[in-house]
Amino acid sequence: MTDQKALPTGIDTSVAHSARMYDYWLGGSNNFEADRELGRAFELAIPGIRTMARENRRFLGRAIRQMAGEAGIRQFLDIGAGVPAPGDTPSVTELAAPGSRVVCVDNDPIVQAHARAVMEAAPGGGTVYVQADLRRPEELLAHPGVAGHLDFDRPVGLLLVAVLMLLKDQDRPWATVAALLDALPPGSEVALTHPSQDFDPRAMREVVEAAARGQMTLVPRTRAQVEEFFGGWELLEPGVVPVMAWRPEEEPTDPRAAYYWAGVARKKG
Ligand SMILES: C[S@@+](CC[C@H](N)C(=O)[O-])C[C@H]1O[C@@H](n2cnc3c(N)ncnc32)[C@H](O)[C@@H]1O
Repeated sequence: MTDQKALPTGIDTSVAHSARMYDYWLGGSNNFEADRELGRAFELAIPGIRTMARENRRFLGRAIRQMAGEAGIRQFLDIGAGVPAPGDTPSVTELAAPGSRVVCVDNDPIVQAHARAVMEAAPGGGTVYVQADLRRPEELLAHPGVAGHLDFDRPVGLLLVAVLMLLKDQDRPWATVAALLDALPPGSEVALTHPSQDFDPRAMREVVEAAARGQMTLVPRTRAQVEEFFGGWELLEPGVVPVMAWRPEEEPTDPRAAYYWAGVARKKG
């Protein structure tokens, strides 16, 4: 649990934030009572929510290792990155592709506050944190922390893990992702995950209702809708599959248990 007195001003801890709820499910320490309360409500609707958070983080690691290994990518743009924690993009790239440039984007000020503390404790390195909104992709790409840190003439690994469901259809999520994909050169790859009603419609309905009670948007989408995000890029094997089934290190007992679709695709030259 974070000590409220240690927080910079301007951070509202009385309203649940997805970044902090996610931190709670992952067993982290950057969360408050409002986050834990809504987090527990989600857990009642979907007892496997911690599994989902953990499996998304694991997928993130596998996707980065694929990008760094097979594709030789050394620049990563993680949008909706969440609070710094073990298993996140900076820590995975440090092992899989040391010396990489990493930009972590999130619109939640709690992420920036925590990231600042981490950067002050360990300055240097190739990671920058940027506060920007996925719903405004042109602005996000032009942000000096993004445009000044990444070379858009060289392949970029774009990570959109467990974030697109927080965009309503009115936010035009497909056009948003298309704008990001258009900005990247051939050889770039995108990894994304998305919760879906395709696995257990009732459980997903309950989680959407729990989210709405917490004034949070959560839009599950079908496999076909998730596939559309890849915009014609070449889907790597095994395609869009349940998150636990995307190149697992160990064969999962029930790969559909995490209710998320996942995939990685490459922009061809
Ligand atoms: C469920 S967490 C996922 C964290 C991380 N991607 C992972 O899978 O381990 C979603 C993150 O997206 C952030 N987020 C939500 N809406 C956003 C937006 N419009 N722009 C940027 N970040 C956003 C939240 O603050 C939160 O940190």
